[in-house]
Amino acid sequence: MPNIPARLRKRPRHLVARIACVLLLTTYGAPAGAQALSATPPMGWNPWNAFRTEVDEAKIVANAQLLVRSGLAEAGYRFVNIDDGWWLRREADGRIRIRTGIFPSAALPDGTTSFRPFVDRLHGMGLKAGIYTDIGRNNCAQHWDRDSPNLPAGEQREREVGTLGYQDADARLFFGEWGFDYAKVDACGIADYGPDSVGVRDGTYRSLSPLIARKAPARSEPAIVEALYARYARAIRTAAPGTLLEICAWGEAEVGNWAGRYAQLWRTSSDIRSNWGSMLANFDSAARRTLFAGPGRWNHPDMLEVGNGDFDVTHPVEARAHLSLWAIIAAPLILSLDLTRASPELIAILGNREVIAIDQDPAGHQGVILSHTAEADILVKPLARLGHKAVALVNRSTRPITLGVDLADLRLSPRGTTIVRDLWSKDVAALRGTRIERRLAPHETALLCIEGQAADPDTVFPDEMPAAIAVIDAGQAMPDRGRNWIPARLGFRPAGEPILRNGRPDTGTLGVASGSRVRITLAKRFRRVEIAPAGSSGTPYTIVADGRVVLRAKADGRSAIRLNTAGVDKLELQAPAGSTADAGFLWSDLRMIRR
Ligand code: GAL
Repeated sequence: MPNIPARLRKRPRHLVARIACVLLLTTYGAPAGAQALSATPPMGWNPWNAFRTEVDEAKIVANAQLLVRSGLAEAGYRFVNIDDGWWLRREADGRIRIRTGIFPSAALPDGTTSFRPFVDRLHGMGLKAGIYTDIGRNNCAQHWDRDSPNLPAGEQREREVGTLGYQDADARLFFGEWGFDYAKVDACGIADYGPDSVGVRDGTYRSLSPLIARKAPARSEPAIVEALYARYARAIRTAAPGTLLEICAWGEAEVGNWAGRYAQLWRTSSDIRSNWGSMLANFDSAARRTLFAGPGRWNHPDMLEVGNGDFDVTHPVEARAHLSLWAIIAAPLILSLDLTRASPELIAILGNREVIAIDQDPAGHQGVILSHTAEADILVKPLARLGHKAVALVNRSTRPITLGVDLADLRLSPRGTTIVRDLWSKDVAALRGTRIERRLAPHETALLCIEGQAADPDTVFPDEMPAAIAVIDAGQAMPDRGRNWIPARLGFRPAGEPILRNGRPDTGTLGVASGSRVRITLAKRFRRVEIAPAGSSGTPYTIVADGRVVLRAKADGRSAIRLNTAGVDKLELQAPAGSTADAGFLWSDLRMIRR
């Protein structure tokens, strides 16, 4: 029986079950890492998908008021972030002047400009405030929205509103003086202003040799891009340590492999659009990167398109599916619709507390892919409470299909009662048998909360604690790697080939890049770790416990080794170097044993 507060115990069992997912948020202390900035994925609103650069203060404030009035703020959507279009120019003293034509409250009586009144107003409403900048000299709209009336004005230098060269001063201004709580830092300034770009050729902008070549990883400069973001992160930490940093480099420059060192969230793909295919592509870009997320570090597949295009009120199935997919992978939930035009039905979808509770579960695990085809996905997200798991059965296709999982796939015991709660239909039932199955309409996702019993409470598999696993060195990359090369995955090799067991990806096995280093935080909670290192390389692998090498050996077949890990906090798995053409290395059959 879950640990339910006395005042609820008298209620009928089904009612208690109905609210249990939400209770998780309040009754269970958050695990290690909870002190991290952004211990759960950030939630809020951003005007970009609804207004592009045609944004103004009145529209933002109207949306902020609706966040509060509709209850969405109370449900967790608290950040209100400005996006592109707010700058007027950079003045001779380096300070940025705000475009007061669209942000009237920024005009101060002494002729200067400040966002302080705007930020104070949002804070006064119980909200938080975010601002937008670019890591280069120029911004995105200056290249991609050249006809916008809201582009920075003035001489070439005055139009350089990006933060390059002004990191410390800008950070002091935005987060110290103006009081913003969140920074979205875009990357067009280091991607789109090469000597051949239109704006550079006609003299509007200075040339900056691109450090990011979009969709051409071999021509990007990840180390320099990382150094620039590290520099800006340092400036933010100095100016206002509690500020969240979003790196918006669209999954380029291997950003997902290093961003977690500096940022709380980072984009894993190019911009989302309000159609089904784009939503799925962005979902996939983040869903594959399970081992990079955890409290304080989140993969960000972009803002939600719920309310727009294929996800508007006439497409509730798609709207619910979109939110469910973001929730199961613990993605940031940043709304980007015009709430002044949203129907109560849409607000109800966005405000579904149980779905939000899955996203915000304090354990901070990103859901793990149990199976993936062009037509369907099945994901499982372990929740903070032992034996509780969220499951998403995802119909990606345009025809009805049936999807299901066995309790064994979820590592749950067939004995005892298993409650299955459908977080959209609100149906709650005890499971009969050992298989959970749903008939799904085209594009439908069933998001289920399963309350069962762990099959073996003393043995924990990597798919049950993905947030405790972190990739600390991406290792060797294949020379022809694309953006889809992922240095460490559960149940897949880095290039995407599934590692199968009973026809399903074997999520007890990590497929990693040669030369990679993966760290498992055991937090002194496991007496033993079992693992079967497997790979064709002739060089040895190394296992390190709290900085001490405990094993150095060549992988020999798939024979299991047992490590005594009593008292060990961090276990590090160092894969051997390989040839440039290899398929990486496997840490097979990994399990952590309590006693
Ligand atoms: C893109 C970014 C979008 C939006 C836009 C503004 O690079 O991915 O989310 O911020 O710039 O111009």
